[in-house]
Order: sequence, then C-alpha cells, then structure tokens
Amino acid sequence: MTIMNANTELADRWYQRAESKAAHYLAALQDQIRSKSYVSMLLDDLNWWKRKHLPHRTLLPLWRRGAKPPDSSEDSRYLAWLARTGKLDNYLDRSVSYMYLRDLGQNLSDPRTRTKIQRLVNEMKQHIVHLVEAPNAAPTADLLSPASVYRWAQREGVEEAAIWVLGRLKGIASHLPSEMNAEEAERKLIKIIFGVVMHVMDEMDGEAGSAERSRRLGEALKLGYYYGLTYPFIDDLLDSGALNAEEQAQYTRMIRMTIRTGIVPELGEWTGRHQELVRFIHAELREAYEFIRGYQNQDTQDVFFEQSYVFFESQDADRCKTLGHAHYSNEELYLPIILKSASSRLIVRSVISAPRDEGFDQSVFHYGLYNQLADDFADMADDREAGAVTPYTYYLTHRHERPDLINPFELYWAVISHLIHHVYRSEPLTREIILARAVNGLKRYRRRVGAERFDELMAMFSVGNPKLERLIQQLVRQAVDVDFYDKWLRDQLLATMRRNRQEKEEFVRLVKTARKHVNALLPISGEAKPSAAVDLLVDTANYSLEGSGKRLRPILAWVMGVQEYGLDPTALSPLFRALEYMHTASLIFDDLPSQDNSATRRGRPTLHEVHSSAIAELTGIFLIQKAVEEQASLKGFDSRSVLALLQYLSRKAGEICMGQAMDLNGKGKALTVEELDRVCFYKTGIAFEACLVAPAILARVPETEIEILKKIAYHTGIAFQIKDDLLDGEGESHLLGKPAGKDIENDSSTYVTVLGPVAASKAMWEHYCLAMETLNELPRIPVFLKHLLDYIINREN
Ligand code: IPE
Ligand code: IPE
Ligand code: MG
Ligand code: MG
Ligand code: MG
Repeated sequence: MTIMNANTELADRWYQRAESKAAHYLAALQDQIRSKSYVSMLLDDLNWWKRKHLPHRTLLPLWRRGAKPPDSSEDSRYLAWLARTGKLDNYLDRSVSYMYLRDLGQNLSDPRTRTKIQRLVNEMKQHIVHLVEAPNAAPTADLLSPASVYRWAQREGVEEAAIWVLGRLKGIASHLPSEMNAEEAERKLIKIIFGVVMHVMDEMDGEAGSAERSRRLGEALKLGYYYGLTYPFIDDLLDSGALNAEEQAQYTRMIRMTIRTGIVPELGEWTGRHQELVRFIHAELREAYEFIRGYQNQDTQDVFFEQSYVFFESQDADRCKTLGHAHYSNEELYLPIILKSASSRLIVRSVISAPRDEGFDQSVFHYGLYNQLADDFADMADDREAGAVTPYTYYLTHRHERPDLINPFELYWAVISHLIHHVYRSEPLTREIILARAVNGLKRYRRRVGAERFDELMAMFSVGNPKLERLIQQLVRQAVDVDFYDKWLRDQLLATMRRNRQEKEEFVRLVKTARKHVNALLPISGEAKPSAAVDLLVDTANYSLEGSGKRLRPILAWVMGVQEYGLDPTALSPLFRALEYMHTASLIFDDLPSQDNSATRRGRPTLHEVHSSAIAELTGIFLIQKAVEEQASLKGFDSRSVLALLQYLSRKAGEICMGQAMDLNGKGKALTVEELDRVCFYKTGIAFEACLVAPAILARVPETEIEILKKIAYHTGIAFQIKDDLLDGEGESHLLGKPAGKDIENDSSTYVTVLGPVAASKAMWEHYCLAMETLNELPRIPVFLKHLLDYIINREN
C-alpha cells in the first residue's frame, strides 16, 4: 500500500468518525423537535428570562427616566451612555462571559473562569471609561486604528509581530481578485487573529512572566494571521467563483493532498489563467502551513490535521450544493454544517498547541451549530440572492413540497434548549447569556430588515406553537439589556473600514488633482534668452524637476492651503513652485559625488552624470534663487505675511543644509537615537514643516496652531526619513527610481545602518503614532494628513 493510500484511508476514517458524531447530535435534536419536548422547557426558560429583561413600568415622567439609549451602532456615544447609566458592568460581564462560552468553550460556573472574566471586565471597563471620559474623546475610528494597535503592541512588548501582521494585512487586500471582497477578508482575518490572541491570553491566565507573555502573544499574532489566511485563501476563494471549474478542481486537489499528507505539494504547472494569483496564494499558504506545523507538538498536530481535513471536506460538501436541487436529505444539509462549525473551533486550539481538553471539545462541538444557524439567519437575504444553500434558503425554497425538511428556525431554538440543559446542565448564567444572545440576534435582524419583513419571515418559519411564537416576538420587540460588545466592535470595524475606504479614495483623488495642478506649474520658462548659458541652466533645472518625483511637499501645501484654509490655488502657485524647487535643489546636491554619489534620481541619470558636478551645483543654486523669486512674487496676501514667509523659508533652507552637513559628518559613527532624530529632522523634517507652516503663515493661522503643525511635521518628517532608510535597505532600485543600498555603500549613519531594520521600523511606528496623536490637538483634524501618514509608512518608493 502506498503512503498516499494509507493517508487517504486515515483521512476517510477521520471524516467518518466526525460524521457519525454529528449524526448522533442531529438525531437527538430531531427527537426533541419531533416530540416537541424542547417547547415546554424553552417556555420556562424564556419566561424566567423575561422577568429580568422587560423594562419595568415606571411612573416617573418621561424626562426623569434618563435619555433613550443612542442607537448601539452609533460609535462611542453608546458606550458613554452605558457608563453614565450604570449599565457598563453588566454589559461587559455579559459580553465577556459570552466570549468565554463561545470561543473559549469554558464553563461559566467554574469559579476560576468567573475570576478570569471579572479581571477582563475590570480591565476593559477602565479602558472604556478612560476613553469616553477623556476631554477630547478619541473618535471610535481611532480605537481600531493601526496607531492604537501599535500602542497596544508596545504595552505588551509585541511591536515586531504587530508591525509584521499590519504589513501583511495590507498585502492581502492588494492581491485578492476582484470577485472577492477584500474588506470582508480583512475583517475575518482580524477577527481570527483576535480570537487566537484571546485564546493564548486565556491559556496563560496571567501566569506567564512578561518576557514569556510577550513571546507567546507575538506568536499568537503570527499564528492567528497564518491560520486566518485559510479563510480568504481557501474557503472564500473557492466560494467566489474567481477560479474556473478546472482551476477549482486543481486547487481543491492541492489542498486535500496537503492535509492528507502533511506536505504542501509543489505548485507545478498551473494551467488556468490565474497563475499569478495562485502562485502568490500557494507561497503564502505554504509559509503559513510550515509556521503552524513548526509550532506544534505531535499530539496537537494530529488534531490539527484531523480537524483541518474535516473542516475542508465539510465545506467542500456544502459548496457543491445547488438551491434548485430538490432532494437533499436533512443529514446532507445539516451534517456538513455541524462539522464545519465545530472543526473550525477545534482547529484554533490545536493551532496554538493548547493541551487537549475534553470539556472544551464537547461544548464546542455542540455550540458550533447554534452559531452557524444564527449567522445564516442574519445572512439569509444575501445568501438567497447569491443562490447559496443554507438551511434557511433551502427551507424557504422547498418547504412546501418537502414537509420532511427540518425547519431551521425551530432547530435553532431546539439547539438553544439543548445547549442550556444538556451541554451546560441548566447553569443559570449560561442560560441567561445564551438567551440574551439569541434575542439580540433577532432584534438586530428586525432592526435591519424592518418590522414588516421580520413578521413575514416569522410566519414562514413558524414553529407551530403560537404561545412560544408570541413570547419570542414580545421579547424581540421589548427586551432590554441584550447588547454585546463584540457586536458593537463588529459594527465599528465595518463602519471604520467603510469610512477608511471612502476617505482613502478621496485622498487618492485629491493627490491626483493637486499633483496635476503642481506639475503644470513647475517648468521654468527660458523667458528672453540672452545667451545659451542661461538656456542651459533652465534646461538642467527642468531636467531635474521632471521624472518620477512624487511632489509630496507642494501637494501637502496645496491641500493645507486650498482645502484647510480656503486660499486661492492660483494665488498660492508661487509657493508650490518654491517648495518643489527647494526640495529638488537639495536632491541635486545630495546626489553629488562629494555627498552621496548617486548615479540615478527620479528614474533617470543624475545631473552630474549627464553634465558635470559644476553644472549640477549651479543648477541647485539657480533653483534655490528661483524659489526666493517665486516667494517674492506672491500676490493677494498681506505683505507682512509674505515677508514673514520669506524670512521663515530662507531660514528653513539654511537649516536643511545644516541637516545635510550633520548627515555627512555622521558617516561611520554609531549615532545615538537622539542624534539620529536630529539629523532626520534637520535634513528631511524641516522641509515637511515648511509645507505645513508656509500656507498657515499666509492664512494667518494663530501661533498656537502653528506650534501643533510643527510638532506634527517633526514626527512626520522623521517617519518619512526612516522609511526612506528602510527602503534604501530593502527596496528595489527600479521602484525607487534611485539606487538602493547607498547608505551601506557610503557608510552613512541612518536608523537602519545603526540600529538595524527591526529597531528602525519600531522607531518609525513610534513617530507615526506620535504624529497621529498630535493630529487630535488641532481644532479640526485634516483627514488628508491621516492618510498621508499611512501612505508614508507603507509606500514602496
Ligand atoms: C527624497 O525625497 C529625499 C528624502 C528626503 C529622503 P522624496 O522621496 O520625496 O523624493 P521625490 O521628490 O519623490 O523624488
Ligand atoms: C536626503 O536624504 C535628504 C535630503 C535630500 C534633504 P537621503 O540621502 O537619504 O535621500 P535619498 O535617499 O538620496 O533620496
Ligand atoms: Mg543624503
Ligand atoms: Mg542620498
Ligand atoms: Mg536615502
């Protein structure tokens, strides 16, 4: 027998074993439905629950009852309201307990679990109260921003892993085919990473010392990412229809083979048209797989393969179904669902190499179905439109001619009853929370689709017991205190991602507009040419200005001047020219053989290569003088402001020279962080400061605000230079438009050459966060700057 056959048999056994367990579970549930034995228990449960959750009638006048809660999806105001009305503890307790139940498979009656929950609730409460009570409370978007994630990573000592994950997440979105929803992929990945981190935190239970804790959390971030990749790259990809039938089969074979043999096969020749995509995914998954495997011991590895196989096969079984097919049995419909929802949770534990835990396995196995039925309920309309088979869509389509079909809504309640009484042995807290969750799910759904549609659905999914149905309806309409923090986070995450996408589109549009405007202004005209020499310098200046320059500095001034301060772009034109002339001059000098000795710039040979150092130097001086001339020709502004600007920019030009001198002086020396900051600020940060401050001077912005702008520029400029140094070390010359590797060659002292890329990245992130945080000090946050900062640390050139 070949190894492959042996593995096939083993894998088949895994699946059969899981399937028979699932069949048992389904049969037990069907019994309860057939005998309606769940109904009376559920009525008791819901009536008991109702007492705590229906608002008491009050004689207080309306205005004394406290303000109505803001819509729970309405950002941090909802959390503030909870804190104000004394409901926050209860809310967090419910939310954290639910997470322990669902994700960590724990028993809520266990005093150790209660202690852990209490500890986490207290931590979260402090955090939330601090946030909502801060004088200029951060908008919620900031709670989930890369800067907040990085600050958390610093507190936990996992900066390196966080930088890694944040970078990888960015890469995913840019590689997904258009048929797939990148935002959804990102959200799922974030959720999974979060889940794995929570799991590891829970396993450590506050015991591990801080170095050990950081090590394990860092690994959790990576594990979460690698494991999370399987969602977009396996399930979602196969669901998306991006691959054609042949590619789909080829891809499925590859995944199946990997799980069966424990070895990722070579990609070999790919016959489909998605070669590049599949090559990328193959490489990512292989890396993921090897990382996860390297992390596991034999015992967890076995669970990992077994559950992965069950997960993959059950999804595959589900995927092959079509809504038009009229004869699926209840087993065909439900067993894969039970299996996929259970195995996905069991994998998480094996991924983090947690020891086997029978209790966890049992509760998680039963819990998955509840969760899946809740999710499928919420997605019913979309699934129907996409023609996807779920218990709900299938029931809606075939219920009339198939009286034997299980009513999924009835199954949902039967599972709830089963969980409460059989899995969790009627433990009161579990009962309270599971019911709150169930009512919350329906409430959210009703809010989303409207009362009318909701009632229609309830009629279609009638469980045939008016008393129970009336009670459920009443609870859905009236119950209070059923919200959950993870739902709030999910809403926030989606809203933030949507807002970010819109803002980013606007940012790209704005950059394009500004760049076009600036580019048209830059060429220097020869005017009345008295001699060929004048012509020569005009040409060389124009040569240096052309090419792949990003124009960041004048674009920054354009956005601040035109958008923030409402100044006239035409009147500001001389300023835009001046800023880019100064910058280009600094590049010409910087590239000279006497300085960095660089042969290319902006994708073309440097001026001294094309002509001579002398001509390059003269062009630099010419451009600087042109910049002064431009400033002096600003019209339509108060002349004192123009003079103040001239004085300011002249001083800044001098300071940039000082920065370059410091930089050259630092060659071969191990500069300290303070010295590195100073060099970066002088040679690069000052130019960013000029772009922020110059329009502010013309707009006569108050001095206090200018000070804040300077602080923003300080951190932005340093972050920009560190990224430049990182790109010099790792970037590609053809993308950069200038040679990489110059800093080592020149023995320059940069963040990267002195401290190495890891410490340099951390420093860059620190300055990025400081710049972001300083934005909050401005009277109005320029959204553009937020995105510019993102661009600066993520750019490739
Ligand atoms: C390069 O600046 C010089 C540094 C301050 C690191 P840019 O990267 O903005 O160069 P261009 O203008 O796009 O060519
Ligand atoms: C140069 O820094 C900064 C200025 C031109 C003022 P670098 O020497 O690192 O810039 P590149 O990498 O050559 O663009
Ligand atoms: Mg230099
Ligand atoms: Mg240089
Ligand atoms: Mg450089």
